[in-house]
Amino acid sequence: MIDDIPDLGEQPDPRNRLNDLTGREWTYALRSVIATRYPTNGEEGYAHALRRAHPSPKPPQLMAELIRFFTKKGARVLDPFAGVGGTLLACALADRRGVGVELSSEFAAIYQQVCAELGLAPQPLIVGDARRLAEYELLRDEPFDMVLTDPPYAQMMAKPKTGERKKQGRAGATPFTADPADLGNLDYRAFLPALREVLAAALVYLKARGYLVLFAKDLQPTREHHNMLHADIVEELLALPDLSFRGYRIWHDMSQNLYPFGYPFAFVANQVHQFILVFRKEA
Ligand SMILES: C[S@@+](CC[C@H](N)C(=O)[O-])C[C@H]1O[C@@H](n2cnc3c(N)ncnc32)[C@H](O)[C@@H]1O
Repeated sequence: MIDDIPDLGEQPDPRNRLNDLTGREWTYALRSVIATRYPTNGEEGYAHALRRAHPSPKPPQLMAELIRFFTKKGARVLDPFAGVGGTLLACALADRRGVGVELSSEFAAIYQQVCAELGLAPQPLIVGDARRLAEYELLRDEPFDMVLTDPPYAQMMAKPKTGERKKQGRAGATPFTADPADLGNLDYRAFLPALREVLAAALVYLKARGYLVLFAKDLQPTREHHNMLHADIVEELLALPDLSFRGYRIWHDMSQNLYPFGYPFAFVANQVHQFILVFRKEA
């Protein structure tokens, strides 16, 4: 497929203020679906054995691909829901400077262990509440070039799915932590404005023309609502001034198993993909 990409020269275009990619790399980075199988062991697993204590760690290579498209080398990237550091590790891979915020000191400690195991200098990770971004001094040092994040999803992992073994690691019925400050513990309707408020505070630190990129995974539809969380997030964020929605890409998570949901009676979707929603701060 890569052979079909038009040859736009092997040098970055001097007019390119967004990233350091050649035209060919730019075009490849626009493919709609990312369906790479990321290794979970060996050097390229990036200490996945430690990171898997988190219910949904993102592959650092996936985050690095996004960071390389939306920023230049040396850029500053903010992740207000940093988990065990998928974005922060990606910053190290891509020679960018990350800053994270994570509610759980347990997840933050895992990130530190991962860095020690990989021999990487940890990027700053604030153990704190993303709803209080305005209070964190470190964020004010210099504007950010990108906000890249993977928020908790409203009650997404609260219920084990039919046919699926419940994820290991978290006790009880809450997704990531039992903390009431965890946005993942909010119900769907309360989650949307809470996420908007966090992102509004993050956007204050983002430079003009900088991108906000976030992951969203839909829930199964019910009679009451379609539960296309990605579409509801877009709708909610369009209420923010100076933010435009630029489109999305899809991440097909190749590590997910397919389950025979509904078999042999009715269609029930396997949700093995996530939306990568792309917004730009226009002013
Ligand atoms: C989907 S996970 C992010 C995983 C991350 N991308 C990684 O690679 O590890 C969402 C994270 O948001 C955290 N979180 C939830 N509410 C938060 C809040 N109010 N402030 C900061 N972090 C929060 C959860 O603890 C969880 O680790």
